[in-house]
Amino acid sequence: MVMDTKHKASIIDGKAAALAVRDRLRQEVSALRDGRGIDPALAVILVGENPASKVYVRNKGRACEEAGIRSMQFTLGADTPQAELLSLIDKLNNSPDVHGILVQLPVPAHIDEGTVLEAISPQKDVDGFHPCNMGRLVAGAPLLAPCTPYGIMRLIETIGYDLGGKDAVIVGRSNIVGKPMALMLLHKNATVTVCHSRTKDLADKVRAADVVVAAIGKERFIKGDWIKEGAVVMDVGINRTTSGGLAGDVDFEGAASRASWITPVPGGVGPMTIAMLLENTVKAARLSMKGNV
Ligand code: GUN
Repeated sequence: MVMDTKHKASIIDGKAAALAVRDRLRQEVSALRDGRGIDPALAVILVGENPASKVYVRNKGRACEEAGIRSMQFTLGADTPQAELLSLIDKLNNSPDVHGILVQLPVPAHIDEGTVLEAISPQKDVDGFHPCNMGRLVAGAPLLAPCTPYGIMRLIETIGYDLGGKDAVIVGRSNIVGKPMALMLLHKNATVTVCHSRTKDLADKVRAADVVVAAIGKERFIKGDWIKEGAVVMDVGINRTTSGGLAGDVDFEGAASRASWITPVPGGVGPMTIAMLLENTVKAARLSMKGNV
């Protein structure tokens, strides 16, 4: 955590928090390998040519290597039949040398995302998107939890912020971020509002929030003057600006002049998402050892 004197808000340093997680995981991985003969491995499947997906997949592979996790990448053509993808997933489900499986989203239009996600063995589902893992999260007994909201919860822990009784507003209702985020905040006793494109008076809802999670995918959509004095602001957005830089879903400068804590873009939520993927992969490797769930 670094205090930035230009702003009222302290910056939540996601890069540093992620590095700490990755350092710890590196030690855990070598202990698993040397002590238990388990060599944690993640299989990443990319279907098609989405340029952003290619970058994400490359970054995930690099992060694995740095933590000593074996990574395997399967790149399939954009016109790959769904049955072929399902048969690859089946092979990986049944391979004892593979502990985590991830299909990078979005998949091409002719492939049904739900069918694919449900085909991944829940014990290897390091994204936490399988209905089993979603259901466990709803029930308050998560096994493998979605990486982005999981990373956000970790960042909130690192600043020692007590969510009990706080008003949390999430903007965005995706299966990947908004919905699981709502459940995680609820389990920490926050009062949660999930806003979306049909929400009325969005600015007023955000103005009432002690905690704001912005996951819309639109550059600087949340204005600085929507942020309550002293709020905690978690920005999930990674938007490429016309000048070639990156911007979050929140007007950072405006928000930082009012918030008490804020995540930057880049260097906030993004690095923690990848760290949680690695953590889930190591967890999945341990699950395989126990042979349970
Ligand atoms: N596409 C955008 N975010 C994600 C993610 O967290 N996991 C996968 N598999 N695909 C994504």
